[in-house]
Amino acid sequence: MSLTRVDVATPSRPYPILIGRGLLAERAHYPAALDPARCVIVSNETIAPLYLERVQQAFGGGLREYLMPDGERYKSLDTCAALLDYLLEQRLGRDCTLLALGGGVVGDLTGFAAAIFQRGIRFVQLPTTLLAQVDSSVGGKTAVNRPLGKNMVGAFHQPIAVLADTDTLGTLPQREFLAGLAEVLKYGLLGDADFYHWIRREQAGLLARDPALLQQAIEQSCRHKAAIVAADEREAGQRALLNLGHTFGHAIEAHLQYRDWLHGEAVACGMLMAAAMSARLGWLPGDEVARLRELLHSLGLPVAPPAGLTPAAMLEHMRGDKKNLGGQIRLVLLDKIGQARVVSDYAAQALEDTLHEFCHAQG
Ligand code: NAD
Ligand code: GLY
Repeated sequence: MSLTRVDVATPSRPYPILIGRGLLAERAHYPAALDPARCVIVSNETIAPLYLERVQQAFGGGLREYLMPDGERYKSLDTCAALLDYLLEQRLGRDCTLLALGGGVVGDLTGFAAAIFQRGIRFVQLPTTLLAQVDSSVGGKTAVNRPLGKNMVGAFHQPIAVLADTDTLGTLPQREFLAGLAEVLKYGLLGDADFYHWIRREQAGLLARDPALLQQAIEQSCRHKAAIVAADEREAGQRALLNLGHTFGHAIEAHLQYRDWLHGEAVACGMLMAAAMSARLGWLPGDEVARLRELLHSLGLPVAPPAGLTPAAMLEHMRGDKKNLGGQIRLVLLDKIGQARVVSDYAAQALEDTLHEFCHAQG
């Protein structure tokens, strides 16, 4: 199977995304200018035993390693400060490069550390989850969490390269894999009807993690994300389309205090709610919503919010969304499959009816 390359042309920095099998262990896939003596692999305690040796092997060994604990709660200023202190102890300067080996947590934290260490150093994304390969490693959003909000402290800082080694997906826990598939589906729903229908057709092979299908799905997702972030690096406009399902999804995550459900699971349910609301507004045919529900269900993704989340509580969480403007809840809705738009001037009744429909449904 061949290696595929997607170029990301953001105004601040152009960089390649390489997608394929066995990339981590081959030096030729990494940026040529990397000096192993000035590189630090940042990973966590789960991923390092599985894949860190492959990165060392690419460079003939000897790269510094920094391991953080595993878990969203470690995507924190404390973990970031500990990493920055390590870089200072090692007497590394502005010419060092961080290699972020892991999922979105390792990638976001390492990217943020790279954004602020000595006012900005280079970093490479080596994403090992499906979500990270199709979303978080691309586009330069880096962040840590604070007790009062997820991703509330961060910076835009693009990597110098992304190497998505699809071999790493073989060890990914099933729920994490499915949560990543939800993000793949998002690109079809918001911008590419053909891709959406391709996912529907190939769902059995994707669920079986067929390497060729996964490579195609990752490539297509990255092409969509690359085009959007190149046109709107700092989310002044169309990048907000990538939040399809996220306002509903964040309300679910906030209600659960970011426990129990994975982000992609909440986004899956949120995309269905956005589709259902679009149908209520008369934009999307009702049978498309039914087909999407069926697809999510057969992909093992949730199609209703957790029991106990009332419409009023969900609305309250949505009112607190950081993307709202002037007190209006901004939503990404669907004109049709493959075409999304950001709206805040919708009929409020349609949102309330959607919340009532779903918050009383059983998943
Ligand atoms: P994660 O990084 O927590 O990884 C999920 C779990 O899988 C972890 O336990 C991890 O150790 C383990 N893991 C990773 N790769 C593995 C592998 N190959 N085999 C076995 N286990 C593996 O979760 P995630 O879903 O990758 O990322 C979620 C984070 O990404 C959140 O913090 C979210 O805010 C962030 N995010 C950022 C962006 C962005 O644009 N920067 C976009 C979406 C999400
Ligand atoms: N994950 C949304 C974005 O990168 O903008």
